[in-house]
Amino acid sequence: MKIAILPGDGIGTEIVAEAVKVLHALDLKFESETALVGGAAYEAHGHPLPEATLKLAKEADAVLFGAVGDWKYDKLERALRPEQAILGLRKNLGLFANFRPAICYEELVGASSLKPELIAGLDILIIRELTGDIYFGQPRGRRTAVDGHFPGSEEAFDTMRYSRPEVERIARVAFEAARKRSKRVTSVDKANVLETFQFWKDIVTEVGKEYPDVELDHMYVDNAAMQLVKAPKKFDVVVTGNMFGDILSDEAAMLTGSIGMLPSASLNASNQGLYEPSHGSAPDIAGKGIANPLATILSAAMMLRFSLNQAAAADRIESAVKAVLASGLRTADIHSSGTTKVGTREMGDAVVAAITKKTTKG
Ligand code: IPM
Ligand code: MN
Repeated sequence: MKIAILPGDGIGTEIVAEAVKVLHALDLKFESETALVGGAAYEAHGHPLPEATLKLAKEADAVLFGAVGDWKYDKLERALRPEQAILGLRKNLGLFANFRPAICYEELVGASSLKPELIAGLDILIIRELTGDIYFGQPRGRRTAVDGHFPGSEEAFDTMRYSRPEVERIARVAFEAARKRSKRVTSVDKANVLETFQFWKDIVTEVGKEYPDVELDHMYVDNAAMQLVKAPKKFDVVVTGNMFGDILSDEAAMLTGSIGMLPSASLNASNQGLYEPSHGSAPDIAGKGIANPLATILSAAMMLRFSLNQAAAADRIESAVKAVLASGLRTADIHSSGTTKVGTREMGDAVVAAITKKTTKG
């Protein structure tokens, strides 16, 4: 097993260090290599995704990724901004299927901004298409408008597009995932306005016929955003495009108390995957040792399960995280009265301790 470790920027380095510590506590045999990515790579090599980093990621069985980005790079030309590293990895590795589970841990019910009864037991899986849509559609750019409301003025444009095979394959991923859960899929679109998403809806409906055992419904994205805060437990598997998935997954994350808890997996057709927390590089708290490493630690568990065929080891991480939460330890983002506030490293240590304890017990 070869793991490429790409910590990136901001809190990325702090949280990935904890996840790596946890992986080492499992006594698995794996090789790993660390490389720079994002702003850190730009500083050292003049590019957010250097050739060597991309090569390492392509050759690995899995990539463990921290986060990229910092406001100080906002003025750089787009191709050199840190975000291009993660977009480039997704594109070059063909990581089209993004799994973003939003699970509310019992111990954290009080940390959510929603009423406890709305989110207790919440377990949603957002499946976001990750290599198409307006994120990657060409053409894009700036030009002088020849039509529209202000011809002759400066304008900018991006292109929303999906091809049939792109929609078919992500739909299949969603239906397959639903078969292993409660057999329900909600496809989120904006078919009432956008041709791209009428096309999306038609194709998801077609593919759905191959899965008569799975119940499919469709929802417009604005309504989905509302339903997520109104009655989130009505959802099970949600499948949607790249941009809607970006927005809805942040929203879903917050339902669970903190985006600092949410892992993600991005897979390609050969189950090679990139695993990263759903949150960003949080430059405002970087270097303070207070970031929550659990999203990254849980991402490492997803990596073991999805790409490295080590489901038992993944279970051990997940139960260790539950045990640590039950013991009352909390990083600042999920801290409330009656719990014990700890830093990034202490949280990682506690997960390691919970894993080692389980091992001795056999
Ligand atoms: C995410 C992030 C990225 C995205 C950014 C950093 C490019 O927000 O993974 O959700 O928009 O996909
Ligand atoms: Mn996002």
